Amino acid sequence: MSSNLIKTFHHMAIDVSNMNKSIAFYRELFDYKLTERHEAGEVDAIPVELSFLRITDSNHHDLVLSHTPGKKYRPRNKNDNLEGPTLHHHIAWECHDRDGWLAMQERAKKMGLEFVRGPVVHSKYDSRGDGSWGENESFYVLDPDGHRLEIFCDMASIDKDGTFVSFEGKRIEEAKVDEI
Ligand SMILES: [Fe+2]
Repeated sequence: MSSNLIKTFHHMAIDVSNMNKSIAFYRELFDYKLTERHEAGEVDAIPVELSFLRITDSNHHDLVLSHTPGKKYRPRNKNDNLEGPTLHHHIAWECHDRDGWLAMQERAKKMGLEFVRGPVVHSKYDSRGDGSWGENESFYVLDPDGHRLEIFCDMASIDKDGTFVSFEGKRIEEAKVDEI
């Protein structure tokens, strides 16, 4: 355990321009279920509409969608990378295994989503790798607002001495973490 205080990163709340459209999208792509949905102002301190979605059986929510009524949302454009407020770069979902990851590719294709990157092997140790990091296989699509979503499988884990371990349980001796 690396933190005595924090158990894990838990959820993210992302801003969406059309709540109905985004709920439908996340349901269709990931099988999210709606735990509860609330209008802006139901609680005085919360001037945004919020939908709490769960992908696990027992968590109240794993993903939150927020929407500000009256806000003039504009589509993202390529200049957002050059100027503007900070945005998250991507959000990632891990599949149980590679078969699940392949099935997610099929689902994304059926939905007509553009693969903005991948499928790719993020590795400089695997002969199929693209020279990047994590040892996982990934592909990337965009949600209706252009939020970049990564769907992956088989990321490396870290052994006690800091050596990377592949999803098959093999130590990758040349690959070490910067900090133990
Ligand atoms: Fe990632």
